[in-house]
Amino acid sequence: MAHSAQVDPAFVQAPEHRSKETISSADGVPLIDLSPLFSQRTCNTFPATLLAEVEAACRNWGFFQVINHGIPLELLKKAEAAEKEFFGLPEKDKLKVRRDEANRFGYYESEHTKNVRDWKRVFDFALQERFDATGLVLKNRWPEVPLGFRETIEEYARSVEKLAFMLLELISLTLNLPPKRLHAFFEEQTTFIRLNHYPPCPYPDLALGVGRHKDSGALTILYQDSVGGLDVKRRSDGEWVRVKPIPDSFVINIGDVIQVWSNDKYMSAEHRVSVNSERDRFSIPFFFNPASHIDVRPLPELVSDRNPGKYKGYNWGEFFKRRMDSDFKKLEVENIQI
Ligand code: SIN
Ligand code: FE2
Repeated sequence: MAHSAQVDPAFVQAPEHRSKETISSADGVPLIDLSPLFSQRTCNTFPATLLAEVEAACRNWGFFQVINHGIPLELLKKAEAAEKEFFGLPEKDKLKVRRDEANRFGYYESEHTKNVRDWKRVFDFALQERFDATGLVLKNRWPEVPLGFRETIEEYARSVEKLAFMLLELISLTLNLPPKRLHAFFEEQTTFIRLNHYPPCPYPDLALGVGRHKDSGALTILYQDSVGGLDVKRRSDGEWVRVKPIPDSFVINIGDVIQVWSNDKYMSAEHRVSVNSERDRFSIPFFFNPASHIDVRPLPELVSDRNPGKYKGYNWGEFFKRRMDSDFKKLEVENIQI
């Protein structure tokens, strides 16, 4: 076994967590066409069939893909090109914007998920920079090259933010809440965007791009290139199912915050990223997170004597800060604090 000599044990997953051969299945993550939002929407009425599709996808999967989402395709291509150009820079240039103790957002060479190193490179930035009383610091570092990088990525962020609020309205309606019920939680945000680069991996059967995890925020809106590698654990049978890349689509998933607000009507689903030995893969998740002062607990409208609250609640800013600190120190924290 010539190649086993070069395997870095930091990346090796326990046998039960390794990616087996690609799982493709007819029963994959649902695909939802959002065009009725733009053509059939009148004031506050949303097409009933669309709401039914979103409801079923959130309940059965916690994941879905959307097409005809209103974000210009040129902007997606521009953002993807900027991302590839940034990661194509010599390492010494990327390291100029490396995250550090004082600046937790910027470039870094990878993180650990459940104490195993992920096979990837990352650049993170916050949608709203802030420094608040809890000591949570969201401060960005921007590279000087590629030229126009910041402008492109910020334009992309503003555009995806609009989609995030639209999805929030849809999800609120499917929970029988007024469409803007959840908006107040996001007047200020701790939302951040991550650029992921997964280089080809010589031992894709042993390592993962991102180890299995659930997203801790409210909602994730992911743009992925055509390579593929995102696997979702199917709720019905626990099988890992590959999310088929669909050109110009987004992958949406429910995070722990919506799980708690909905009192488990919607649950965040476990997912991971498999790598391959031939192609670089790029993705851009938008982690839609509430303001740091928000206490996350089941919404009173969704709790009753027959369906008591399942979580006692936690402060989002404290949780987020702890998560960022421990991520920086390569420690693992549990997802939802109950
Ligand atoms: C993630 O879940 O953090 C990344 C997903 C992806 O790159 O597809
Ligand atoms: Fe994730």
